[in-house]
Amino acid sequence: MHTPRTGLNWQRAQALAVSERASYVARNPISAGLAQQAGQHMLFGVPMHWMNDWSTPFALTVAEANGARFRDADGHEYTDFCLGDTGAMFGHAPPAVAQAIARQSARGYTAMLPSEDAAPVAAELARRFGLPYWQFALSASDANRFVLRWLRAATGRSKILVFNGCYHGTVDDVFVDLVDGVPTQRDSLLGQVYTLTEQTLVVEFNDLAALEAALAKGDVACVLAEPVMTNIGMVLPQPGYWEAAQDIIRRHGSLLVIDETHTISSGPGGYARVHGIAADALVVGKPVGGGIPCAVYGMTAALAARVEQAKRTAPAGHSGVGTTLSANMFAMAAMRANLEQVMTPAAYDYMFALAAQLADGLRGVIARHGLPWCVTQVGARTEFQFCPVPPVNGTQAQAILDSELEHIIHLYLLNRGLLITPFHNMLLVCPSTTADDVQRLVAAFGECVQALL
Ligand SMILES: Cc1ncc(COP(=O)(O)O)c(C=O)c1O
Repeated sequence: MHTPRTGLNWQRAQALAVSERASYVARNPISAGLAQQAGQHMLFGVPMHWMNDWSTPFALTVAEANGARFRDADGHEYTDFCLGDTGAMFGHAPPAVAQAIARQSARGYTAMLPSEDAAPVAAELARRFGLPYWQFALSASDANRFVLRWLRAATGRSKILVFNGCYHGTVDDVFVDLVDGVPTQRDSLLGQVYTLTEQTLVVEFNDLAALEAALAKGDVACVLAEPVMTNIGMVLPQPGYWEAAQDIIRRHGSLLVIDETHTISSGPGGYARVHGIAADALVVGKPVGGGIPCAVYGMTAALAARVEQAKRTAPAGHSGVGTTLSANMFAMAAMRANLEQVMTPAAYDYMFALAAQLADGLRGVIARHGLPWCVTQVGARTEFQFCPVPPVNGTQAQAILDSELEHIIHLYLLNRGLLITPFHNMLLVCPSTTADDVQRLVAAFGECVQALL
């Protein structure tokens, strides 16, 4: 595989890393002080351990976020192309959501009963995703976990299948990778005492023969997949892949679960709707309530009947599905406003045009400097990757990740008021991002690349 650093002057890159880190420290004394205070009472000095995975020497503290912008504790303004890694894909605090939750804030948060927003939200989900029956969760991780449980119960099959290099949240079952072709539990997963490889099969994305072979025994409840892999860098399906894969899945009596949590960037009904993938079940989390914690999962009428039957015939008691605050009134109000007023076709059209400008701009920089890098765009989501042609599976995508190089580029941009996702090189635009924001990002990316050559 191609070496990500090809064409770069690595000595200059390392010197740049040192100077950018120094610049970050000098620019952010208030964030530094807050990080020091945080270290006294938080594990790892941050509310979530992964907040240390950014390129910064210490966490940047956010004071306020609105639309495509946020201000840090030291008063710097940023244009946000990370957008909470999709949680704020439609901008921070979209006014319609802010108003809905402000209204709801005086009308109760949680009652273990449906609010007046529940039925309209489910109807809107059915309309836009083309699946008639819906349930709710607090996160996409939970939604995926619940779907796997329902589908195992409904099919009476214990195994599931995922694609090498996938991520579907903190769902233990899916932390199985191919290492030199051998299914292997992911080393990084903490505290897992069960042998996950017994019930989880893993194959490469875009490999139809491997999918066919893995499902042939007829013991796999479902395939859980992003329609485009996004969490190991983007990996697009090859032409005709999903058509053939769906046929294989159906022939072997398995079900297809599409996780649209990131690929909802493709359109109001997600990637599956745009590309004619007929999922048996579908999950969306993160931006569905404008960034308020909530997630949804839907299913076909045929699957819903099997799921309801499984529950009806199970002994009374805890099902393992559900958390007390799921489908709370606050989340429902946020989802209703977000779905009806924010995640609109017009918003998507605007984002698509801007993302295309961004992708073109990045490609222009790469071409100008003759770098063996490429750019992939999936709706409002764009990514540059350190390889001349996009990877076709998780193994290839993994091979071109270079967190050291990523961190240098990310920190360079951050010090110039531009935030991109800390994992690989993903950029999102939202309805409040402007063409000028995109131009600034492209210009800063160009200057960064120049400094690396
Ligand atoms: C495709 C996909 N599914 C599910 C999740 C889990 O989302 P959450 O962390 O909000 O539970 C993620 C998180 O990045 C994701 O990318």
